[in-house]
Order: sequence, then structure tokens, then C-alpha cells
Amino acid sequence: MAYNTLEVTKEGGVCIIKLNRPKALNALCNELTMELAQALAKLEADDKIGCVILTGSEKAFAAGADIKELQEGTFLGMYEHDVFGLYWEAVARFRKPIIAAVAGYALGGGCEIAMMCDFIIAADNAKFGQPEINLGVMPGAGGTQRLTRAVGKAKAMDMCLTGRMMKAPEAHACGLVSRVVALDELMETAMDAAGKIAHQSRPIAMMTKEAVNTAFETTLTQGIHFERRLFQSMFSTEDQKEGMAAFAEKRTPHFTHK
Ligand code: CAA
Repeated sequence: MAYNTLEVTKEGGVCIIKLNRPKALNALCNELTMELAQALAKLEADDKIGCVILTGSEKAFAAGADIKELQEGTFLGMYEHDVFGLYWEAVARFRKPIIAAVAGYALGGGCEIAMMCDFIIAADNAKFGQPEINLGVMPGAGGTQRLTRAVGKAKAMDMCLTGRMMKAPEAHACGLVSRVVALDELMETAMDAAGKIAHQSRPIAMMTKEAVNTAFETTLTQGIHFERRLFQSMFSTEDQKEGMAAFAEKRTPHFTHK
């Protein structure tokens, strides 16, 4: 399927979704988020795909929601169209592993979409921020919640109230991103990580993602209970048998996703 605002390519078990509105620094307009939700729905159903990389251009991952689309918005219009709920949440709800490979600006909704991914690999020119306060609004796609969980109250307040940008080393130091690499190594690093994930057992990788995400939704006792039950359930899979047999036989496991 051809998209107007995305480039979608597949390599082995990995799919790369490139946000592609370069003239608007990948501002997340309605069409783009709708296409992104459509692409993710297809990938979720695609048995060949084990991991997705979401990326942008070297200058901008995404400079936020499309301000020109939003500026004449009304409360009722936004409520009726479930703005930032309907399509955007598709990234957070995506069940397979998804990595954000971020170069350049990841601002406002751009930072929020990156945070909806499972982890962020940043190029050394990446800049993160929640500058919505400069527009007379505040983050509306999870910024006040996910950023706070990722970096803690002090830094989240600083970012959301001042609207300042954070460069890659600071984002790494405070735990917003998992790795920082040179710009020209960004996609190679992301592909290497995604390729490793795609080679694992698909249901086990998906359950692992589910378990980590549960840490943000429950108490520690409930989270540990959920983890233990998932762990026990993995012993009903062929991939558990294969993974442990391969270790004992000193060979590479061949997972069949069953
Ligand atoms: N929405 C719509 N268009 C945008 C945009 C956005 N978020 N960000 C950039 N653009 C457009 C610009 O209007 C400009 O278009 P024209 O050439 O037609 O004028 C083009 O992209 C290039 O942008 P600049 O000329 O501004 O580029 P720059 O290099 O001088 O500055 C920037 C880059 C600092 C990222 C600046 O563009 C900027 O501050 N962008 C807005 C960032 C922002 O406020 N994001 C939050 C949006 S609200 C939101 O996201 C709400 C939410 O919680 C989901």
C-alpha cells in the first residue's frame, strides 16, 4: 500500500516506517497519524514482521502535532474526533516491539510518539522537548505522563514548564533514550537491535514487552505476579523447548513462534 506521508520498507523480519513530510519537519498532521495507524495495523497482522523501527529525517523525527491544523480547533471538534486518541494511540497499543530511531527534532507530539515506542535510540544531533507551553497549550499526547515516568518529576516539570529543548547527551543521562550514536550510525544501530529482536520468538518478545509495560500500570506486587504467570505460561510454547535445547546442545536456536 502506498502512503502520502510515510515510507514503509521491509528488511527480513524488520519494518522501517519513515515519517515523510520533510517540508513541515514531519509535523504530525491528521493524514500522517491516520496512515501510521493503518500501517501499524497491517504490520501487527503480518506474520513475517517481528519488530518495527519508527524514524524520521536527519533534521526532524517530528516537530510535533501540526500546529496549522490545530490552530482553529474547538473543544467540541477535538472531543468528537478524539484528537490525540484515535490514531496516535495506535503506536502505544502496538503489540509487537517498536523502536524509535530519532535524529533532529523530536518536539511536542514528536517526543510523545517517540515515547510511545518501546525504546528510543537517538542520534547525537537529536533534540527532545515539550514546547507546547510556548503555544498557549500543554502536551496532549501523553507528554506530561510518559515524560514524567521516564525522567522523573523535576526534569519533566522543567521541560514542560519552560518548553526548552534537551540535547541527546542530557536525554541519555536522564533515561529518556537507551543509546546515543553518531548520526550516520543511527539506522545501522537501530537495524541491528531490531534484527536481534525479530529473530527471537515472537510471542515471547511480545509478552516481554507486555510485562515491562505493566510496570507502569500496576503495583509492584501485581506486576511481579503478572510476570511470574507469564513466565510460567512460556513453558507451554515450543520456542521455550527449542531455546533451552539449543543452549544445551551449543547451537543457535531456531524459533518457530509457536
Ligand atoms: N506544525 C506545523 N508546521 C510545522 C511544525 C509544526 N509543529 N513545525 C515546523 N513546521 C513547519 C514550519 O511552519 C515551516 O513551514 P513553512 O516553510 O511552510 O513556513 C517548516 O516546517 C520548517 O520549519 P521552520 O522554518 O520553523 O524551521 P526551523 O529550522 O527554523 O525551526 C523548529 C525548527 C525549532 C522545530 C520550529 O519549526 C518549531 O519550533 N516548530 C514547532 C515545534 C512545536 O511547537 N511543537 C509542538 C506542536 S503542538 C503539539 O505537539 C501538541 C501535542 O502535545 C501533540
